[in-house]
Amino acid sequence: MAKPKTPGRSPRERTEMPSQTASAEGSRVVEGSRRPDDERFDRLFRPTSLDDYIGQEKHKQNLRVFVEAARRRNEPLDHILLCGPPGLGKTTLALILAREMGVTLHATSGPAIEHKGALAGLLTNLQQRDVLFVDEIHRLTAAVEESLYPAIESYSIDIMMGDGPHASTINLPLQPFSLVGATTRTGLLTAPLLSRFGYVMRLDFYPVEELVRIVQRSARLLDVAIAEEASVEIAQRARGTPRVANRLLRRVSDFALVLGDGSIDRDIAVESCDRLEIDQAGLDEMDRRLMSIIIDTYEGGPVGVETLAAAMAEPRDTIEDVYEPYLLQQGFIGRTPRGRIATRKAYEHLGKTMPVQGGGAPPQGTLF
Ligand code: ADE
Repeated sequence: MAKPKTPGRSPRERTEMPSQTASAEGSRVVEGSRRPDDERFDRLFRPTSLDDYIGQEKHKQNLRVFVEAARRRNEPLDHILLCGPPGLGKTTLALILAREMGVTLHATSGPAIEHKGALAGLLTNLQQRDVLFVDEIHRLTAAVEESLYPAIESYSIDIMMGDGPHASTINLPLQPFSLVGATTRTGLLTAPLLSRFGYVMRLDFYPVEELVRIVQRSARLLDVAIAEEASVEIAQRARGTPRVANRLLRRVSDFALVLGDGSIDRDIAVESCDRLEIDQAGLDEMDRRLMSIIIDTYEGGPVGVETLAAAMAEPRDTIEDVYEPYLLQQGFIGRTPRGRIATRKAYEHLGKTMPVQGGGAPPQGTLF
C-alpha cells in the first residue's frame, strides 16, 4: 500500500508499507506483535535515524559503517537479515536503513508474496539501491524463495512467458537493490536463503536502562510529563520490548489523565499496571496461566509443547513465538528434551512451594 510522501523528505525517501497482519492471540498489553491500534503511535514514536534509535549499540555501529560504505561506493546496501522476537524494532530498522541510504523502502511480507509473478512485480518496481523489506521472510513459499535467489545474487529474474510446449523463459535484469529480511528465528530459514545475507543482525531484548530512555523519549513525543521512577516501573514491566513499553506508556497515560492531572508519577504507574494485571516482572494473566498449568496440571513438567498448547487452547506457534521467548529468557520456564518445565523462579513468582526433588516429585530432566 503506497503511503503519501512525508513532507520535507526527498521523493526517494518515500515509504511504501503493507497493511499489517492480525496478531495471533488478540489483545494483550504485553504482546510483542504489532496490533492495529499501535499503528498510529508506532509512527509517532518510531525513530527515523540511527542517531535517534536507542539500543542495539553494537549492531548500530556496524550498520553505520555499512551505510557509509555503500553510499561512498554508490552501491546498494548488502542484503541484511534482521532476526528476533516481535516488537524489538525490525521494521523500524528497515525504515531507518532506507532513510539513511536516501532510498525508498518497499515493504511486504513472506505470506503476501503469493506467487512468482507477485515477486516479479515487486522486484521490477525497484529503483537503484532501493530497499525491499520482507517481513516474516521464513514464510515465503519454496517456489517464490527459489526465484528470489538470482535476484539477490545477480540482480536478475527469470520470467516464464506463455505456458505449455511454447513456454519460454526470459532473464530480466533488475536494478541493484538491497533485501532486508525479517524473521522471528533464523532457524526457520532454509540454509540457501540464510547464506545469501551479507549481515545477520540478531536483535536482543532491551535492558531496562534502554527501555527507560525509550519511555522518556516517547513521553516527550506524547507531551506527557513522567517522573524518572515511573519510567523505571514501566520499563521493568515491558518484557525487554520497546513496543510493549510504548503501549504500556499509552495505557498509563490514560489512567494519569483520568485519575490524576495527566502527569505520570510512580504511584499512578504502579496502580495502572496493577489494574491491567501486569505484575512487576511484566507477566500478565496468560503468562501466569501457562506457568500454573505446568506446575499444577503437570507437576512442574516436563510437558510437551503440543500438550501445553492444547491446555492453553492456543496454537503451538503462539506458545513458541509469543509466550515462551520471554519466559525462557527470564528463566521462568526451561526446555528439556522431554518438554517444558517450570523453574524455581516460576514457583516463587506464583507463591507456590516447589516440591523437593526425590521426595515424590517427578524428575525435571536436564535443561538444554
Ligand atoms: N521507539 C521504539 N523503539 C525505539 C528505539 N529503539 N529507540 C527509540 N525509540 C523507539
